[in-house]
Amino acid sequence: MCSSFISIKCPEYAQVLAQERYAEFWYGCSLIEVGDKVIIRLMQESDLSEAALVHQSAFVRQRRSFEWLQCNLKAFPRYMIYVAKLDEQPDSKVVGYIIWAQKSGFRPESVLELEQLAVLPECQGQGVAKALILESLPLVKQQLAEQDSVLKHVLVTTRADNFAQQLYKKTLGAEVESTISNLYSADEVLMIARNVGDTIQ
Ligand SMILES: CC(C)(COP(=O)(O)OP(=O)(O)OC[C@H]1O[C@@H](n2cnc3c(N)ncnc32)[C@H](O)[C@@H]1OP(=O)(O)O)[C@@H](O)C(=O)NCCC(=O)NCCS
Repeated sequence: MCSSFISIKCPEYAQVLAQERYAEFWYGCSLIEVGDKVIIRLMQESDLSEAALVHQSAFVRQRRSFEWLQCNLKAFPRYMIYVAKLDEQPDSKVVGYIIWAQKSGFRPESVLELEQLAVLPECQGQGVAKALILESLPLVKQQLAEQDSVLKHVLVTTRADNFAQQLYKKTLGAEVESTISNLYSADEVLMIARNVGDTIQ
């Protein structure tokens, strides 16, 4: 595990931290080193402030990061949020999160939406998102099993120009089913990974 930390100064963090009435806006991100194991686990209330920093820095057009994540967290198991941390040490930060949503009721065969996925900019390109998808899905399947449900399909939308499309194709086998013009900030593709419960254990 890397013992050194980098600090970065970023206006978006300042905005979130100011909302939460913190006095300063420095945020340290552990450097991920080859061989470091990212821990993926269910989000807890104590993760909210750090996850809000990830949200604000990954989605600069979106507002009220803390509140957004807090209300999703409260809606468990309709929404299931998993965080990525480098370890469980007190100084280990949340470096990413994933939100899964059960669609259209609690069903015996559940259709999930990958509602949101974000990784702290300083920690991108190192496999954290891939780990969030692939390591949270078995936990989601366990949760579904507790409610006598199995995973059927996963749907996900993303901006048509976002490379995340490749990520969803690689990890889930998702394919573009249609393009929705001018939905949020631009054209959005709707992707579906069919029968993903059979392929991801
Ligand atoms: C999209 C996002 C979550 C990816 O996180 P990440 O941890 O950097 O992704 P990973 O390192 O796990 O990369 C997974 C795959 O994505 C692709 N990828 C990652 N960074 C890329 C880049 N800069 N350009 C093109 N493809 C890239 C690669 O295919 C990679 O697979 P590979 O390593 O086998 O080649 C992150 O960039 C992010 O938070 N972006 C802002 C928010 C967002 O757009 N979220 C998704 C839409 S909801």
